[in-house]
Amino acid sequence: MIASAPGKIILFGEHSVVYGRHALVSAINLRCRVEARKSGDFRIISPLGVTGMDFEVHPYVSFAIKRFSELKKINGVELVIRSDIPIASGLGSSAAVTVATLKALSEEFEFTLSDEEIFELAKKVELDVQGRASGIDPFISTFGGAWIFPEREKVELPFDFFVFRLWERSTKLMVEKVAKLRQRHSEVLEKIFDAIDAIALKAPKCGSEDFEELIHINQSLLRAIGVSSPEIDELISRLEKEGFRVKLTGAGGGGCVFGIYRGKKPEEATIVKSEKEGVRIEDS
Ligand code: MEV
Repeated sequence: MIASAPGKIILFGEHSVVYGRHALVSAINLRCRVEARKSGDFRIISPLGVTGMDFEVHPYVSFAIKRFSELKKINGVELVIRSDIPIASGLGSSAAVTVATLKALSEEFEFTLSDEEIFELAKKVELDVQGRASGIDPFISTFGGAWIFPEREKVELPFDFFVFRLWERSTKLMVEKVAKLRQRHSEVLEKIFDAIDAIALKAPKCGSEDFEELIHINQSLLRAIGVSSPEIDELISRLEKEGFRVKLTGAGGGGCVFGIYRGKKPEEATIVKSEKEGVRIEDS
């Protein structure tokens, strides 16, 4: 059985969403596909390598199998993973592989899980691996569309976006970095999170010019909470000199920056579109 789930772009609200604030997020038209076949043992085949259950090389997939097995005992499965979503880039590859794995397992082993159940399980997997998370990534991979999270207020985004890839980084480490800074300066960080919250709530009502201003402001606030870097700031300055407004998306520290696509994009960037459909079964 083959299942697929989309990646995502957090437009506003990464990190502050971990502390109960709102975020504006959209699924994107890049998907991860997972094929599950019953087997006598466990085998995971992906661009990262071929392993058994392996919590180092394939942490999200291995925990997804473990969590699924707690509901329905299985003796083995072969999973083949193919993804359009670049790994460790802030575009939701981990959640997409988790959600698609859970859906493929549920269909292959005829143990039907609703989308809500897949979301709940995927959230547990994310916490198993990262220790701290808002659940926004598994939410958007499961349900697709564009939303104010965690309220589940659906929004229409009239824009396409360009994403500019930086380098790989670990969400877990970036989330820990913000948590440590918050421990030392909670009264300051809480105010910054409130400001990001206001941006996330305002953005869906904005036209492209105001939206770009909010991109600029939110990037400054991400810098303030320590998830940018001199290299990223330099790149952003270069793109701003070329007339673009960009911000980090996802955990930061690398990953991707994005901006609104208005017929022009940085040469190296790729265009992504909002995706309506969440997790689904694919024809074999
Ligand atoms: C990661 O895509 C988004 C973060 O806000 C973490 C989370 O919400 O779980 C950095």
